[in-house]
Amino acid sequence: MSPTKILMVCLGNICRSPLAEGILRSKLDTKKYIVDSAGTGHWHIGNPPDNRSIKVGTQNGLDISQLKGRQFSEQDFIDFDHIFVMDQNNLEDVLAMATTEAHKEKVSMILDAIFPGEDVDVPDPYNGTMTDFKRVYEMLNQACEVIATQYT
Ligand code: 4NP
Repeated sequence: MSPTKILMVCLGNICRSPLAEGILRSKLDTKKYIVDSAGTGHWHIGNPPDNRSIKVGTQNGLDISQLKGRQFSEQDFIDFDHIFVMDQNNLEDVLAMATTEAHKEKVSMILDAIFPGEDVDVPDPYNGTMTDFKRVYEMLNQACEVIATQYT
């Protein structure tokens, strides 16, 4: 059977979604699941994750230092089975690019996994401190724990 493909999406693809990618991948069987990430913005294409995301990953046993930023594209609706976005802005930007209902149905807010129907954002930590990145890690880890149990 072909692997289930899951995409994590944020704005820059350097802070939140690379962490979400690394966290979920670490909880799933990589023979059965492919996890990737992308940003709705173009500014960080080809760039590694933000140093603070790399650091909080390392502190939790994850190496995300080799990931490279890329921009979300319409093709991702075809290539991926599920698309998790970090916040309401990502949700609007991604849904605006969807051309079919089936593609729209692939998209959900990642924190719906732990706060169903509450539309809770993973706050953008880019202009924040290491404490903000640690909070983001904790939220994503809790959500990915639930997502991983739903998939396995
Ligand atoms: P991310 O954070 O969406 O979690 O990767 C951001 C990174 C960069 C920018 C904004 C948010 N930026 O404006 O460059």
